[in-house]
Amino acid sequence: MKKTSLYSSRITGTGSVFPKKIMSNDEISKLVDTNNEWILERTGIRERRIAAPGDPHETNSAMSARASLMALDMAGKTAADVDLIVYATCTPDTLVPSASSYLQHLLGAKNAGVMDVNAACSGFLYALTTADMFVRAGQKKCVLVIGAEVLSSYVNWQDRGSCILFGDGAGAVVIERTDYENPSRIYSSHLGADGQFTDLIICPAGGSKQPVTAEVIESAGHKITLKGREVFKVAVKTLADYATEALDSNGFKISDLDWFIPHQANLRIIEAVANRLDFPMSKTLVNIERYGNTSAATIPTMLDEAVRDGRIKKGHLLVMDVFGAGLTYGSVCLRW
Ligand code: UT7
Repeated sequence: MKKTSLYSSRITGTGSVFPKKIMSNDEISKLVDTNNEWILERTGIRERRIAAPGDPHETNSAMSARASLMALDMAGKTAADVDLIVYATCTPDTLVPSASSYLQHLLGAKNAGVMDVNAACSGFLYALTTADMFVRAGQKKCVLVIGAEVLSSYVNWQDRGSCILFGDGAGAVVIERTDYENPSRIYSSHLGADGQFTDLIICPAGGSKQPVTAEVIESAGHKITLKGREVFKVAVKTLADYATEALDSNGFKISDLDWFIPHQANLRIIEAVANRLDFPMSKTLVNIERYGNTSAATIPTMLDEAVRDGRIKKGHLLVMDVFGAGLTYGSVCLRW
């Protein structure tokens, strides 16, 4: 491990929030030609949470605010201590202004600068890395990092190839400055992308290139379209490569790893990656069965669950590993 700065950062608090409504596979079977057995067998998903449209408590920023308060409470901090908010989402409350501006106001985090990061499902690790760099550079001391989505508003509920996969939720972590020598810290980040695959996961309309029109709405051009089979293949290889890079670059072996936290896109992807890494599923954190794919929220919500139920303990070595639309990729290695 090369010393690259005076400071490091460590995660000192986590939080997560999901909408109240549980949508089962049977409920989806009433919308499209599918069934519980197919969804469970091909994805590992049993149910997902769906935000209530129009409910002010279940907007992207409102769920993030509640998750943030949980994380701040765990860290023993208040909103006034936060000097930066880095917010990963591809489904913000509004395109302008940013989700992080709403969150800052909801929390009363008056001392915080704010920014959104859009790397789709990889967003949380891009945001965490950005926050880590501000702390390492000595610029910030206490940063709130969010991964949150209301994907249900972008799902085409008539497309059985994609609507079965996604859910809503919000996760938050607090990261704080620590000594570089503290073993409990973020060790390294590895971010990448391959823009040749932009068409594999895309909302084609709704941006400046193709604004929403009546025709766009008619053809669901502003909703998520997915080439799932192609994504699947790239995802397995890339997730395995990025996890390996995270370990190798710090001189760790796979047997040193206590918990592997992969993006929750499909249980079969997760199992295939664990298999490639020769790492046991018993030490791979999975909650896709209950929440589906919540994009940027999968990693921080999974992390919060495993911290709060005591699976993740002080001193444990973790690798978090993601892929998403773009295609974007990333991994982070840290010791809890
Ligand atoms: O986080 C980033 C975003 N996530 C992803 O990109 C997800 C990655 N991909 C996947 O998870 C999987 O590819 C899916 C779950 C999306 C699809 O699973 P698959 O095993 O790759 O299925 P497939 O697309 O190869 O389709 C197999 C069959 C097809 O029928 P035929 O052509 O064999 O007759 C599909 O029409 O399954 C059919 N099918 C379905 N049947 C019942 C596709 N979706 C469904 C469905 N219910 N919901």
